[in-house]
Amino acid sequence: MIVIDRLEDAVPLARALVAGGLNVLEVTLRTPVAVEAIAAMVEALPEAIIGSGTVCDAAQIEQSVAAGCQFMVSPGATDRLLEAAASAPIKLLPGIASAAELMRCREYGYTEMKLFPAETSGGAAAIKALGGPFGDVRFCPTGGIGPHNVMDYLALPNVLCVGGSWICPSELVKAGRWDEITELASNAAALRG
Ligand code: 3PG
Repeated sequence: MIVIDRLEDAVPLARALVAGGLNVLEVTLRTPVAVEAIAAMVEALPEAIIGSGTVCDAAQIEQSVAAGCQFMVSPGATDRLLEAAASAPIKLLPGIASAAELMRCREYGYTEMKLFPAETSGGAAAIKALGGPFGDVRFCPTGGIGPHNVMDYLALPNVLCVGGSWICPSELVKAGRWDEITELASNAAALRG
């Protein structure tokens, strides 16, 4: 889960993460340079799977496709967003934080969703509980996850993967401390077991 403030950080950061063994990179559309950053990463690292995050509307879906994203992630899921995503050539991982939101996404055919914000929406216990009535749904939790609690999530059978910003802290990015980011990525990649 990446926030790019300076365009020049995009490619070295992506290289640092891929070097550490993480090749699925979500770049949030939260900053003015995000779309350009994604396009630069896609061009420089064809081996990476690069997607957009914080996708909230149809225009951002179009921007994601144009930038070369292979997937999109949204913090929540409105009917307008889900309708726009239905005709997009790349997949959306929609965000949910409750059973009702999960059911809306299922009505659109989704069985893979992001729980966001994971820690404040009940954390691993919520995902375990949602697995009762919704045994067909798999989750990618994000929000408040770090080394201290990541295994609580990855231990659950209905968790496919997790996302988080702990792997690229802004102070390391700002200082261009790419080797340290590679080490954090490598530690995270090792969690797959
Ligand atoms: C977000 O959209 O902010 C992500 O879910 C990341 O959350 P984190 O910074 O708590 O890892």
